[in-house]
Amino acid sequence: MKSTDRLLLENKAWVQEKLEQDPGFLDRLRQDRVCEVFWIGCSDSRVHADEITNSEPGEILVHRNTGNQVSHSDFNVLGALEYAVNVLKVKHVIVCGHYRCKGIRAAMQKPNPHLFFANKWLKNIKDVYRMHRREIDAEESEDGRWNRLAELNVIEQVHNLAHTAIIQRAWKADRDLLLHGWIYGLHDGIIRELMTLTPDIQLDPLYQYDLD
Ligand code: CO
Repeated sequence: MKSTDRLLLENKAWVQEKLEQDPGFLDRLRQDRVCEVFWIGCSDSRVHADEITNSEPGEILVHRNTGNQVSHSDFNVLGALEYAVNVLKVKHVIVCGHYRCKGIRAAMQKPNPHLFFANKWLKNIKDVYRMHRREIDAEESEDGRWNRLAELNVIEQVHNLAHTAIIQRAWKADRDLLLHGWIYGLHDGIIRELMTLTPDIQLDPLYQYDLD
């Protein structure tokens, strides 16, 4: 683990190195770029959206939280989504989970009595486990159950996106906006596509807003 002094020193070395390789780097960074992707990923320090997709600064707007959740009571993710969809007018919203996610594993266990807020945050993932318990528990190994919940959690979070008025309003306005569920393998570095929702999806009326 690097100390904070080391991080600041490395930052200076990084700028110098970057400018040696690419003198126009900072000039480009100052300019606005067309950002077509909003990424909702896990906070895990091993999963960096820009790095694993080989993206340049400015290409992806990123929101991260434990277990890549889209909670309708989380103003952080909803505010970022609203900005991405209504202001940046992104064309893709991606929920990207990952295998061997510690948040998912914690959600499969009894609440940790020493982590009051973390337990609350993991509650939604526990609900995903409960909703799909039979399917997940049919997996033979502990790793299999862990990874299947990671996949099903991504799928549920994409549905949570489709259940927001933000997305429904964009779709009603004929916006070309796709929702994607992806999962990243820490073991091989590969992202797998789990699902895509398109504007013509038939939403369950339970979640459908009456929009003007
Ligand atoms: Co994680």
